[in-house]
Amino acid sequence: MAAGGFAFQNYNESSSYQRRILLKATDALYDSLNYVKESENGTIVIADYGSSEVYNSMVFLSSILHKFRETSQQPVYVVHNDLPDNNWMKAFRTIVDSNESYRKVPNTFFSAIGLSFYEQILPEETVHVGFSSSAIHWLSEPLSAPDHIIPSASEDSEFLALASEQAHKDLVSILKLRYKELVPSGRLLLQFADRTRESIISNIWQEASENLFSKGIINEEEKRDLTIPMYRRSPEEI
Ligand SMILES: C[S@@+](CC[C@H](N)C(=O)[O-])C[C@H]1O[C@@H](n2cnc3c(N)ncnc32)[C@H](O)[C@@H]1O
Repeated sequence: MAAGGFAFQNYNESSSYQRRILLKATDALYDSLNYVKESENGTIVIADYGSSEVYNSMVFLSSILHKFRETSQQPVYVVHNDLPDNNWMKAFRTIVDSNESYRKVPNTFFSAIGLSFYEQILPEETVHVGFSSSAIHWLSEPLSAPDHIIPSASEDSEFLALASEQAHKDLVSILKLRYKELVPSGRLLLQFADRTRESIISNIWQEASENLFSKGIINEEEKRDLTIPMYRRSPEEI
C-alpha cells in the first residue's frame, strides 16, 4: 500500500480546514491561468494532484473558472488525481450533482486518474496548470518512527535524518515528474503542511494511538508500527 493509501470516509464533509487553505490560492491559480492562456490558443489543461472526494477542488476551481470565462472562451479540461482506492464514486457524483460545480462554466470538461502522484500520470508537456493542496506531505513509503505516529514529529534523531532524506527524495521526485507533465510555459502550485504547528496537530494523533493502546485495542508492537506516513518539512528542508 502506498503511503496515504486509504480511502477517506466523508472527506468532503470534514475538510473545511483544508478548503480554507486551498481557497487562499485562488488568486495564484487565476493568475496562472491568465499567464498560460497567453501562449496557448487551444484547450487549457488543469491537473489536481491528490484531490480526495473533490468537493474542495471543485469549489475552488468553480469560482476561478467563472471569472476566467469573463475574458476567455478557451475550453478547459480538469484532471483530478488521487490513489486508486480513493472514493471516486463520491468524487464523480459530487462533480455531476453539485450546484457549485465548475460544470456550470461553459466549455469545461473533466476526468480522473487513480494513480499515485509518485508516478508520471499524464503525457509529457500536456498540463498547463498543475496544483496540489494538503497532499504532498504524504510520503511515498510508509516509514514508522519508534516514538511517534507521525514521522516528522519523532524526537529520535537517527530516524528523523532517515525520514528527512525520504521526504527530500519524494519532493524532488514530485517536482521532476510534474516538470515532465507541464508544458514549457506551464505553472505548478503546491500547498503542503510545514513544521510550524507540528506538535499541536501531530500530538492529537499520538494521543489517539496511546488511547487505543491503553484500552487494549492494539498491543505494544502494533502501537510502535502504527504510522501516518506524513512528513511536515521545515522551511530549511523546503
Ligand atoms: C488531505 S487530502 C487533500 C484533498 C484536497 N486536495 C484538499 O485540498 O482538500 C490528501 C489527499 O492526498 C491523497 N494522496 C496521498 N498520497 C497520494 C499519492 N501518492 N498519490 C495521489 N494522491 C495521494 C490522499 O489519498 C488524500 O485524498
